[in-house]
Amino acid sequence: MSDSARYTLTILGCGVMGQALLSAIYNAPEASAETKKLYPSKIITCNHDKDSTSQVVKLLEGFGESPNGIEVECTYNDNERAVDEASVVLLSTKPFLAQEVLSAVPVKKKLLISLVAGWTIGQLGEYSQYVTRIMTNTPAKFGYGMAVLSHSDSVSEENKALVRELVGRVGSCIELPEKNMDAATALVGSGPAFALLVLESFMESGLKLGIPLKESKLCAMKVLEGTIKMVEKTGEHPSVLKHQVCTPGGTTIAGLCVMEENGVRSGIIKGVEEAAAVASRLGKK
Ligand SMILES: NC(=O)c1ccc[n+]([C@@H]2O[C@H](COP(=O)([O-])OP(=O)(O)OC[C@H]3O[C@@H](n4cnc5c(N)ncnc54)[C@H](OP(=O)(O)O)[C@@H]3O)[C@@H](O)[C@H]2O)c1
Repeated sequence: MSDSARYTLTILGCGVMGQALLSAIYNAPEASAETKKLYPSKIITCNHDKDSTSQVVKLLEGFGESPNGIEVECTYNDNERAVDEASVVLLSTKPFLAQEVLSAVPVKKKLLISLVAGWTIGQLGEYSQYVTRIMTNTPAKFGYGMAVLSHSDSVSEENKALVRELVGRVGSCIELPEKNMDAATALVGSGPAFALLVLESFMESGLKLGIPLKESKLCAMKVLEGTIKMVEKTGEHPSVLKHQVCTPGGTTIAGLCVMEENGVRSGIIKGVEEAAAVASRLGKK
């Protein structure tokens, strides 16, 4: 397929998450003849000032050529022209800026893919007829991200395929009804911070028991990594595997009892629930 048959993707707000998506799409391995049309021939990144634009330029300098021949133009204070040139617009500004940014660009007839936490398809629909909402997370920067998608009814099957292909590049990607998006914001978007708290707690437990920090960190990381791989490989429910570690009257069940007594499980569940409640209020401000 010739580049003229492909399209321009504009990233409105190219900070942490915008750059994660930019890296994933730009560096995606060479697509097949069938899927190549799903990739843009050009990406325009939009920032507010020169300093943050230079971070995007620096990121790109670290990349080789795009396997799918994607050209990138980095801009600032040029949203209107950048959106005008695009067929697909990825919105990744902070939530409090979304209204100001969207109302100043001609996005009505373009596919609008929004990463903005708390902004519903209904709210985004005031600016564009075709909306996909995504929630993803910072491991996307390294290809280990998780993404949850919801589309408005007007998004065509072709555009759904395009979004799945592009967003899938961050790692893994699933589609859920929009009613699950605040939960996904908490579990997927905030999830890495919660997982890091667990990792840090393991590290500090090693440290408290006399294992040096570096070795505690390695042990904690490998325990979590290995456990996740074991769940993946066996397909078992975590509680089945947990009970396999518990010798009757042994160390593991003793440790688990104390953790449960201290509300570790309900603390995590309530924490994720609170994050979802905050997410539900974000778009209303
Ligand atoms: N970080 C996460 O873990 C995470 C996870 C899931 C979802 N999200 C969602 O992703 C979105 C982006 O978050 P982030 O962490 O990537 O934020 P961020 O790093 O602050 O990036 C936002 C970007 O928007 C740019 N921007 C600000 N005003 C602009 C304007 N008028 N026109 C164009 N660009 C403008 C900023 O550029 P300047 O610096 O030049 O102003 C900045 O580069 C948020 O809505 C958040 O809800 C974030």
